[in-house]
Amino acid sequence: MKESALGFLACPECRSDLMVDVQARDGTEIMEGTLTCAGCSRQFPVVRGVPRFAGQVSGVEARTAEAFGYEWTRYAELADRYRQQFLDWIRPVKPEFFAGKAVLEGGCGKGRHTALAAEFGARAVVSIDLSDAVDAAFANTRGRDNVHVVQGDLNHPPVKRAFDYAFSIGVLHHIPEPERGFRALVDRLKPGGAISAWVYGREGNGWIVHLVTPMRERVTSYLPHSVLDVLSGAITVPLFLATKLLYRPLRGTALRRILPYEPYLSYISDFPFREQRSIVFDHLVAPIAFYLRREEFGGWFQRAGLGDVVIEHHNANSWRGFGRVPAGVQ
Ligand SMILES: C[S@@+](CC[C@H](N)C(=O)[O-])C[C@H]1O[C@@H](n2cnc3c(N)ncnc32)[C@H](O)[C@@H]1O
Ligand SMILES: [Zn+2]
Repeated sequence: MKESALGFLACPECRSDLMVDVQARDGTEIMEGTLTCAGCSRQFPVVRGVPRFAGQVSGVEARTAEAFGYEWTRYAELADRYRQQFLDWIRPVKPEFFAGKAVLEGGCGKGRHTALAAEFGARAVVSIDLSDAVDAAFANTRGRDNVHVVQGDLNHPPVKRAFDYAFSIGVLHHIPEPERGFRALVDRLKPGGAISAWVYGREGNGWIVHLVTPMRERVTSYLPHSVLDVLSGAITVPLFLATKLLYRPLRGTALRRILPYEPYLSYISDFPFREQRSIVFDHLVAPIAFYLRREEFGGWFQRAGLGDVVIEHHNANSWRGFGRVPAGVQ
């Protein structure tokens, strides 16, 4: 954690400023220390360079955090392909949009998009995740002066209303009340600030909802993560072969229409085995996954009073959305 993070951080309970007592530093990073709220005097530790606000998580949220903590510390590496994938998830936002902005990320995982937002020229990127994935995110973005990785709950983001742009990729459908999480992020935007979100769609995912969801909810999300990882590897073998031998060769031809779930499987057909395996694991590990209809997702933007809204179907199985807080509102 850098001292400059204090300009963005706030007590998740009373939203007052925080003061830091430093116990260990490494260059500009405060590696160990204690944050104390100037309002309610609550204290939050800084551990291994990351301020930790997620002390009292329990129940399904704790299971979710454990699942993704395992996933992103196991599959912690960054890859070049993440750049285009990120831009596809946040379209119509382009790299230039980030220049000079204070950016909030809800659910950063291993920090693959945190690193990109910083590279695109954001003035500051504050990335929150509930799980131990923050350790991977911290390691992946260490040395970037404009990045602050924080462990916390995006339903109570431990930050001020200080952001020009917020984004959340593949996270809101995994929390018990997705719209509430969305609103918590919108609430941290300054007037005129913008938000992007990407969520699973209900449209195009009937087979997942009817076949995969019952198995995930009853069996796979309860398996020891190392066992599920092996199972995911086994499932990925036929998936990988199909994407390489069928989906990729037929991409761009009329014959592609005979292939099931074609837009998405063609999209991932360039991915290496390990990436596909992490995707399979990701789909089987989460205790909660909502598959949202366009009206539900669009309703979040409408009820939050956002303007300039763009909602688009992505790979025929998910929704990406963009909206802006009207200037002079809040
Ligand atoms: C599918 S991962 C996506 C991570 C990242 N956005 C990416 O695309 O690489 C979902 C992430 O949301 C995080 N998460 C789940 N519930 C959360 C919450 N209440 N607050 C913050 N993060 C949360 C998980 O720990 C996990 O890292
Ligand atoms: Zn407080």
